[in-house]
Amino acid sequence: MQELEFYHNPVLLSECLEYLNILPEGVYADCTLGGAGHSSAIAEKLLPEGTLHCFDRDPEAIAFASRRLENAKPKIVFHPVPFGELGSEIETGTLDGVLYDLGISSRQVDSSERGFTFAGNFPLDLRMDTREEKNAQDWLRETSVESMAEAFRKNADLDRSMKLANRLKIMLAEKSEAVIAEDIRGVALSVYPERRQEIPGILARIFQAIRMEVNQELNEIEKSLNACAKCLKPGGRLVVISYHSVEDRCVKNTLALLERDCICPERLPICACGSNHRQFKKVLRKPLVPSQKEIAENSRSRSAKLRVYEKV
Ligand SMILES: C[S@@+](CC[C@H](N)C(=O)[O-])C[C@H]1O[C@@H](n2cnc3c(N)ncnc32)[C@H](O)[C@@H]1O
Repeated sequence: MQELEFYHNPVLLSECLEYLNILPEGVYADCTLGGAGHSSAIAEKLLPEGTLHCFDRDPEAIAFASRRLENAKPKIVFHPVPFGELGSEIETGTLDGVLYDLGISSRQVDSSERGFTFAGNFPLDLRMDTREEKNAQDWLRETSVESMAEAFRKNADLDRSMKLANRLKIMLAEKSEAVIAEDIRGVALSVYPERRQEIPGILARIFQAIRMEVNQELNEIEKSLNACAKCLKPGGRLVVISYHSVEDRCVKNTLALLERDCICPERLPICACGSNHRQFKKVLRKPLVPSQKEIAENSRSRSAKLRVYEKV
């Protein structure tokens, strides 16, 4: 096989393999294929009778990963669509395990022309799928001040979100060309003048908030985890890695609803639903985090949290 260039270091790899409980002839889905770091390790554990469904909304990831997986033993099925489509792409009750390694890959962050990074001065883009019509520029120009402030609060726990949104709108009104990272940095410095040292972290959170809106990330997670309840076989495993508190909260809260026997509204004095709605049980009470060794070798793993559930 030809030598492939670096794409992404898979995080918590041995833990994912352990908790997916891989059956050699089983059917698995990697919902966040990226550079196929996790997928190629899963494929190694499968026989030709096994199947691996690979989802990624980024065409570049699908192209790279299909080269990496071209000699894989099991059947590989590529789904170049958002993982929110899991329920329409996969038959009910057919999966033995599903993996999510949320967020973006090193390749996406490091390709400056993709406009994910605030380290260079490139027009903000932030689309995972470059075929999508609207990018960060459109979002910034078309979103109202109120909705923008709400996105900064909800997606990145940013304080002074209204002031930030207002100042961004003023900057946008004065600038007809594409917005670059430096423009956002200037606004951040004017909103948080006494926090100069923290500006890189604040910029990361502003970018995160915009990226989550452009790609509708929380809706995608919620929709796809609900579809897992339908697509997994009883006993099938769900393994999710998240990288920041908003993402992790969305995973935890979505699963908490799917862990409930009773789905009656709280105001009902007695249960009227039959109390048999439980879809998942927790396999780990607390999330796993990377070891110090893994963090030292791959600093991008430092905020990872891995949660594991089993379909009942
Ligand atoms: C952290 S990377 C995955 C890296 C991969 N596990 C590896 O080892 O190379 C996340 C990937 O998921 C994709 N992704 C994120 N959200 C998605 C969604 N809603 N639908 C499909 N793909 C998504 C991104 O495009 C990116 O390639």
